[in-house]
Amino acid sequence: MGPSESDEKEQVEIELLLEAMYRLFGYDFRNYAYASIRRRIWHRVHAERLGTVTALTDKMIHDRGCMERLLSDLTIHVTEMFRDPEVFRSFRHNVVPLLKTYPFIRIWHAGCSTGEEVYSMAILLHEEGLLDRTRIYATDMSATVLDVARQGVFPIERMQQYTRNYQEAGGTESFSDYYMARYESVIFQSFLKKNIVFAQHNLVTDGSFNEFHVILCRNVMIYFNKELQNHVHGLLYDSLSMFGVLLLGTKESINFTRHSSQFDDLDLINRIYRKVK
Ligand SMILES: C[S@@+](CC[C@H](N)C(=O)[O-])C[C@H]1O[C@@H](n2cnc3c(N)ncnc32)[C@H](O)[C@@H]1O
Repeated sequence: MGPSESDEKEQVEIELLLEAMYRLFGYDFRNYAYASIRRRIWHRVHAERLGTVTALTDKMIHDRGCMERLLSDLTIHVTEMFRDPEVFRSFRHNVVPLLKTYPFIRIWHAGCSTGEEVYSMAILLHEEGLLDRTRIYATDMSATVLDVARQGVFPIERMQQYTRNYQEAGGTESFSDYYMARYESVIFQSFLKKNIVFAQHNLVTDGSFNEFHVILCRNVMIYFNKELQNHVHGLLYDSLSMFGVLLLGTKESINFTRHSSQFDDLDLINRIYRKVK
């Protein structure tokens, strides 16, 4: 059975909303995975007490606040320090020895959200004696999350779990030495962010801006459709130096992308690859 007439109408309404979002505000969700975008749009329709997607489009166009709320619904910022600790453990084991042979290292965290992944990497590199010769570029399309990332201030109640993650990731020090508690928050030591550049970058609409020895892009492309995944894989490939390392984490893979044959596996489970062609 083909799609019903109402499914088709809904799809047109959603496409028009996404087109307006792109043309008026520059955020391009047109090739994000449809089912999840659809769910999030309907969430906003109801939250604004509207009845249709078209009514939401109208409100979004004329009311900046509504646009911002929709934008925040459409992007998932969930993250944590040493998320999937075995990825960091594998990084220590499989990637750090390669990096130790380089005089200078450039790492790109694409889609870094509020920065927990980036501070985790800075801690790991510090413990491996590599932080001083590394420049970390941490980018996200959202200016709001980057503001949080720059501060390096995180809720204190998360530290118990982050300490566990850190230890499972192979951390060798006392995790609490890396931050200072301030009421309900902790602030991470400023030496960790000395070599981090935070910048806004959209993987869909912006191009390559440097050449990197390591690129991490975790839990970002799961929200994209196949076509957009291919596009972003092209961008990441172009941004990696020869023998550079691509780290996708447990949920994504380069299988079935145009570039899969140009990488060797360093760790199949944690999806760490090395560009070889
Ligand atoms: C779920 S978080 C992942 C954060 C971190 N990498 C991790 O694995 O914990 C996804 C992030 O990707 C960002 N993102 C989504 N689409 C993007 C795009 N087109 N360009 C850049 N960042 C994007 C979102 O703003 C969000 O902060």
